[in-house]
Amino acid sequence: MHTVVQHPLLQHRLTILRATKTDPKLFRELVHEMTRLLAFDALRNLPTVPVSVRTPMGDAAGVKIEGHIVVAPILRAGMGMLEPMLEILPYATAGVIGTKRNEETAEPIPYYLNLPKPFPDSFVVLVDPMLATGGSACDAISTLKKNGFSKIVFLNIISCPEGIARLEKEHPDVPVFTASIDERLNDRHYIVPGLGDAGDRLFGTL
Ligand code: PRP
Ligand code: URA
Repeated sequence: MHTVVQHPLLQHRLTILRATKTDPKLFRELVHEMTRLLAFDALRNLPTVPVSVRTPMGDAAGVKIEGHIVVAPILRAGMGMLEPMLEILPYATAGVIGTKRNEETAEPIPYYLNLPKPFPDSFVVLVDPMLATGGSACDAISTLKKNGFSKIVFLNIISCPEGIARLEKEHPDVPVFTASIDERLNDRHYIVPGLGDAGDRLFGTL
């Protein structure tokens, strides 16, 4: 299942994010803001339990988010989405998945993994701004599942038909929330029109 979040607040920022002239500082700020907007939609069904809160005027019925939430960025570009997620989920833990595409084949090469202990109610929010061939995201999800995590949602900024199709085939249980499904991949496995290399644009390593 995939959802393209069409909200104008998100789409306006996506347009600026794509622009070649957008520098790394603005790029990071936009990724932060867009992550929060995507999360607003993607996490609308987070489980909650009823709680009561004392106000100066009496008691009010409220809710508390239930379960262990893990925010898992795929390095390196996913790091840009970690901080805004932890801002809105201050009790979440972070799990880090290091994967780098082979520049020729686009095959994901895992190089680092640091995940918290899984609990029966763990819920993973996997974050990566780019979903191209789908190799990195599929590999990251397989790794999460092998390590005991079964409830996973994927937050993404730009995807393409190839990546969405692969993810839905290999991991149909993982919903994807994205701001765009772009046209296609080029012969170097980059998304067109996309925004170029998200890691380089975030960290100024172009
Ligand atoms: C980018 C991006 C994704 C991946 C997407 O990372 O952040 O993780 O490519 O491509 P895929 O769907 O074809 O796997 P990259 O491997 O370039 O590493 P980086 O973030 O360290 O630059
Ligand atoms: N990774 C990126 O950063 N950009 C793409 O277009 C594809 C993979």
